[in-house]
Amino acid sequence: MSIAARAQGLTKTYGSGSTVVTALDNVDFEVVSGEFTAIMGPSGSGKSTLMHLLAALDTPTSGEIFIGDTAVGRMADTPLTELRRDRIGFIFQAFNLVPTLSARENIVLPISIAGKKVDEQWFDRIVDVLGLRDRLNHKPAELSGGQQQRVACARALMNRPDIVFGDEPTGNLDSTAAGEVLGFLRRSVDDFQQTVVMVTHDAHAASYADRVVFLSDGHIVHELRGATQEELLNAMSVLYPRTDDAATEHVTHSHHLVELGETPEESEAIDAHADALYRDGSPPPPPRDGIDETDVESTAERSLARRALLD
Ligand SMILES: Nc1ncnc2c1ncn2[C@@H]1O[C@H](COP(=O)(O)OP(=O)(O)OP(=O)(O)O)[C@@H](O)[C@H]1O
Ligand SMILES: [Mg+2]
Repeated sequence: MSIAARAQGLTKTYGSGSTVVTALDNVDFEVVSGEFTAIMGPSGSGKSTLMHLLAALDTPTSGEIFIGDTAVGRMADTPLTELRRDRIGFIFQAFNLVPTLSARENIVLPISIAGKKVDEQWFDRIVDVLGLRDRLNHKPAELSGGQQQRVACARALMNRPDIVFGDEPTGNLDSTAAGEVLGFLRRSVDDFQQTVVMVTHDAHAASYADRVVFLSDGHIVHELRGATQEELLNAMSVLYPRTDDAATEHVTHSHHLVELGETPEESEAIDAHADALYRDGSPPPPPRDGIDETDVESTAERSLARRALLD
């Protein structure tokens, strides 16, 4: 078993003084090569922060990231840019394709920027697996959401990266298109031995993964291997109990690994409330007055995407 990426004592805080937010708190985590790993957790639990740090898109407050054996924190800017370009692939929630370029041009963009030659055989294989053959000359605006995200998948895999990272890659897709993208990620692991790390709220999406880690308040609180969607939902109902849910009050919400479904009462509580759960098992986030967060978020994601692809 080899390790594709490793976080050691990873801490990330934002702000200072009384407004400090600890997004990640001393996290140790390993991504196993050739595995499909999903990162789950409620909104604000630190999923994107962990992914951005693992992908060397952001720097930790303390702790260390390794991509393979390379300690990212000690790298100068230029080798770091090259590492991101050559060894890491990204798929974002908002597909982040270049609107003026065709599907083909978008897929080979990182290769073109690096001044390398396109491996046409590999290109053909990816395009055929993704069913994009007849859409290659179309611009993103002429493609469906699912097709655009498949183009983004092809782009992420084009340079055969060590790791592909996806932050809610199916978050903007309907269930059919999401199934296609998830099926492709699964196939890239099974057929091409690709290493994939995906952040998701969705137990169905996470059920495609080999391994699911659960975050809560900046800590990894649990991990499952080979779990079905139902097992993931059950785990979430215990790990992230609804605050208005008297039946699960006895479950300790601690920062230690939680043993799930141990007692009959616990299993019953899970069954009784599995249906009432929000998609990720957490209560819906409270509305935040007057701020259009989608816009703020997509701006932040765009600037990260630029760094991931063009920098
Ligand atoms: N740039 C930032 N400045 C200040 N706080 C931030 C920043 N980015 C993230 N945070 C805070 O860090 C915490 C973790 O955020 P993160 O984006 O990692 O959560 P997440 O699990 O990805 O949530 P979501 O499911 O909503 O995307 C949150 O409390 C968030 O408000
Ligand atoms: Mg996020």
